[in-house]
This record gives sequence, structure tokens and C-alpha cells, in this order.
Amino acid sequence: MQARLMAMEEGKEPSMAIRSSQPRVLPVRLLQFFLIFLGMGIALTIFSMFMSRHFRFENVVIPVTSSKIQPCFKEPNDFKSWIKPPSKVWHQMNDSQLLWRASFDSQIKLYPFKRVPKLAFMFLTRGPLPMAPLWERFFKGHKGKYTIYIHALPMYNESYPPSSVFYRRQIPSQVAEWGRMSMCDAERRLLANALLDLSNEWFILLSEACIPLQSFSIVHLYISRSWYSFMEIYDDPGPFGRGRYNDNMEPVVNLTNWRKGSQWFEINRKLAVAVVEDDTFYPKFEQFCRPACYVDEHYFQTMLSIRWPHRLANRTLTWVDWSRGGAHPGTFGKADMSKEFFKKMFDGQTCLYNSQPTWACYLFARKIAPSALDILLQHSFEYFGY
Ligand SMILES: *[C@@H]1O[C@H](CO)[C@@H](O)[C@H](O)[C@H]1NC(C)=O
Ligand SMILES: *[C@@H]1O[C@H](CO)[C@@H](O)[C@H](O)[C@H]1NC(C)=O
Ligand SMILES: *[C@@H]1O[C@H](CO)[C@@H](O)[C@H](O)[C@H]1NC(C)=O
Ligand SMILES: *[C@@H]1O[C@H](CO)[C@@H](O)[C@H](O)[C@H]1NC(C)=O
Repeated sequence: MQARLMAMEEGKEPSMAIRSSQPRVLPVRLLQFFLIFLGMGIALTIFSMFMSRHFRFENVVIPVTSSKIQPCFKEPNDFKSWIKPPSKVWHQMNDSQLLWRASFDSQIKLYPFKRVPKLAFMFLTRGPLPMAPLWERFFKGHKGKYTIYIHALPMYNESYPPSSVFYRRQIPSQVAEWGRMSMCDAERRLLANALLDLSNEWFILLSEACIPLQSFSIVHLYISRSWYSFMEIYDDPGPFGRGRYNDNMEPVVNLTNWRKGSQWFEINRKLAVAVVEDDTFYPKFEQFCRPACYVDEHYFQTMLSIRWPHRLANRTLTWVDWSRGGAHPGTFGKADMSKEFFKKMFDGQTCLYNSQPTWACYLFARKIAPSALDILLQHSFEYFGY
């Protein structure tokens, strides 16, 4: 007890000494100034607290650690900027940069934000889209459920009005030659551009000669509920199938893995990333599949059936007519358009949908000539329900 009291006395002593000595040292005027400043300080503190509560002044507080050189853009450090799609489809990336960027994808299945999965319609064209008015009708009323990408010849300048769904949807493009690797490059470019938007879940490759055979709602339902992606894949033992295989592809691709199929596909996001990031199969196909090996009929088909066989329906959603023979499928114009013509695409054939037999095998058809447009616009509801 005694010791504690002693300690307290000792602790008090210096401050007592200062307090007792200070008033005597400070002149009265200085003390007045000091009190005035103190009062002003308190008043200002209370005032600023009041202001900041009511006018949110805390937003303009400049961080003390910020460097002298201020960046003129906002750093993408908040979550929203990570999930936001690019505001324009046009960009300055070259192919290696684009594919590299597009190969980044979430490994977690559950998105920690509200994501409306979309259908990406990817048009591989030379120039204009003659069927654009029909597609406009197809897309009408479904904004927010789809995105559009167009790959055209680089010298083609689009001329869609701002009200069009195709307005400013052209991606940086390069010449794509039928049957050559530049065609697969164009398809990978389309996929990569569409992958930059996180909301795109299904990727549909179409040409300027394609038309939709069903309404948007049915197309959406059919694709979104499917267990599999739609790429036509088969093993053709003949000269136009296995006959195009080159032994130099071993052991990356063996003859037993070699597949063929239509160029026109629908694949989901996982497979799209697999196509974009591929650097195993690409060099083999580029080097050893050249005409008369038409690489667009083999590269994705073979590669995906090696990597993801159980995710593929092995059939295409795009109807085409090879019955006339030759290297190119039949083209249909004004004179061919009739209810019976389209009925043919549904009747007399069955396929599997989610492992169940169905007659509804096709959602798109090609090749339709521009001359058919008027009659299709007149009858689109009767023929296709849109
Ligand atoms: C893209 O640009 C980078 C950097 O300038 C370059 O290293 C790369 O080779 C380019 N790729 C293509 C395909 O041009
Ligand atoms: C495309 O159109 C824009 C704007 O009208 C023009 O500036 C550009 O030079 C055109 N490009 C070509 C390749 O014609
Ligand atoms: C091709 O065959 C070789 C040897 O039989 C094997 O090691 C390789 O895994 C096969 N490649 C594929 C893609 O199945
Ligand atoms: C597609 O073919 C692969 C073999 O290449 C097979 O494993 C897969 O089950 C087939 N898909 C369907 C839906 O039958």
C-alpha cells in the first residue's frame, strides 16, 4: 500500500511541476490566443463532421499515399470492372493478344453475381448480311438474351443504321479462305471476341446464307436445355475422311482419332475456351492439313472429340443439302421457298436430343440466296413462328 501510494505520488510529481510553473511563464494574451484557436478548432471539427455526414464529403478525400502522377483512367480494382463486358467490340489487340486474353476463364461454376447466360451469334461473312431483315425480326423483343459478332472481309465497311441489331458489331477481321487455316483462325477470332463478354454461354457459328428456322424462344430453349454441344463429328473411312489424314500428326492425332464434320457449330463456353487456348493440335493441323485436306472440316471436330467426347452431340443444328453432289451444298432461292420446302427439314428424319429421339433436329438452314428474302419476310410467321 505504502509503496503504491509512493509510486503514484512520484508519477504525479513531474506534471504537477509543469502545471504549476506554466501559467506563470505564459503571458495572459498568449493564453487568450490559445483559447480562441482551441475554440475555433473544436467548432470546425464539429462543423466538418456535420457536413460530411450530410454531404458525403468523404468521397473527395484524397489518399495521402497517391503518387504525384495521376492515371487518367480508373484502375480496374473493383469487382464491377472485372465482370463488365467491353463497351465496344472493336479493339486494338492482335490475334495472339486476343486469344491469350480470351483464354482466361473462371474455374468456379457458381458466378458470384446475377448472370443472364446469353447466346452469342457469330456471323462469318464476306460482306453484308443479305438476310439481315429476317434476323432483325427473329431477334426482336429478346434484347439482353443474345449478343452478335460479325467477321467480314477487312475492307468491308458495315452500313447498318444505329437502330439495327448489327450496328457496330463487326470485329477486327482478316481474310478467311475456304478450306484453309485462315478460316479456322477467323472462327477462333469470333469465339475469342465473344468470350470477352462473360455473359456469353453458347456460341453459334453462322454464315450470311443462314436463316433461323425457329423463333428465338425455341432456339434459346433448345440450346440452353441441351446436355451437349452441337458439332457434327463422324469417322469417314473413305478418301474424303481418313484419306485426308497425314501420319506426321502422330502421336498428337492418330488415324483412329481423325474426325470429319460440318463447319457450322454451336458450342458452350467450356468448349469455346478449349478451342481458343489450343496450342497442341493447332500447329499439327496448320502444318499437315492443307488442301485437299479442308481443315475447317477436321480441326475442331478432331480436337474436341479427343478432349471432350462426352460433351458433344456429334450432329449440327444447321440444315444443309448435299444431295446435288459436288464440293458445295445446294443453294435455294425464291422459287424454292414454300411450306413444303421447310417441312422437308423436319419430316422424315430423327435425331437424338438429350438421348431421346426427336424430329426437331435443325434450328438453322443454309444456303439461302438473297432472292428468297422477300418471300421469307412475307411468310416468316407461318413458316417459322416469328
Ligand atoms: C502481336 O503483338 C505482339 C507485341 O507487339 C507481338 O509480339 C506478336 O507477335 C503479335 N502477334 C501477331 C499474331 O501479330
Ligand atoms: C469506313 O467508314 C469510315 C467512316 O465512314 C471511314 O472513316 C473509313 O475510312 C472507311 N473504311 C474503309 C476501309 O472504307
Ligand atoms: C496415339 O497413339 C500413341 C501410340 O499408340 C499414343 O501414345 C497416343 O496417346 C495416341 N494419341 C491419342 C490422341 O490418342
Ligand atoms: C459423340 O461421340 C463420342 C465419340 O467420339 C461419344 O463418346 C459420345 O458419347 C457421342 N455423343 C453422344 C451424345 O452420343
